[in-house]
Amino acid sequence: MNIGLVIGSLRRESMSRKLATRLIEIAPASLRVTELEIGDLPLYNADLEAETPAAWTRLREGVRGSDGVLFVVPEYNRSLPAGVKNAVDVASKPAGQNLWPGRPVFVVAQSSGPLGGLAGSFALKQTLTGAGANVLSHPEIYLSRIGTLFAQDGKLVPDTQEFLRGALASFETFCARFAKR
Ligand code: FNR
Repeated sequence: MNIGLVIGSLRRESMSRKLATRLIEIAPASLRVTELEIGDLPLYNADLEAETPAAWTRLREGVRGSDGVLFVVPEYNRSLPAGVKNAVDVASKPAGQNLWPGRPVFVVAQSSGPLGGLAGSFALKQTLTGAGANVLSHPEIYLSRIGTLFAQDGKLVPDTQEFLRGALASFETFCARFAKR
């Protein structure tokens, strides 16, 4: 199955990106994960639909071709990063061409703090549910103090790795249930 990957942080040394890299390594072999880049998407503005920005078209084609979308996100001010919200909005438009209804999605949240990005994850899940996506509600992933979850070699510490391996297996099962292609 084709899985689109949205990484919620744009900075070079992003922990979300490091985490996503490890998730790809431990994902079930049946999942082919491709990043859906969001950093260059113009802010959603219906006026731009007259000459659809290439980055919007790229994102929409990526979402359309996916059997599920995995979000790996930090929390920004108790919500989701603006770039992630913009990507969800872009893929939900233009009217009548919302790509989210029925699409399986999974949110993995992380934070350098103690709360694991719970509020950001909830905000993202609310938006995705509102757009019509099928949000995998369990297991829930809120990785607190993310910097402590990587070993010296950059790999995830064993407990976290096994927990996430199981979570990705759940997402695979969830995607297979809804797969139409
Ligand atoms: C944050 N961070 C943060 N963390 C948190 O637990 N709750 C919060 O509300 C916020 N708010 C917030 C706002 C902004 C603008 C930034 C840049 C950061 C911290 C952030 O979530 C945390 O450091 C992540 O681990 C950063 O992820 P990346 O960029 O390394 O992927």
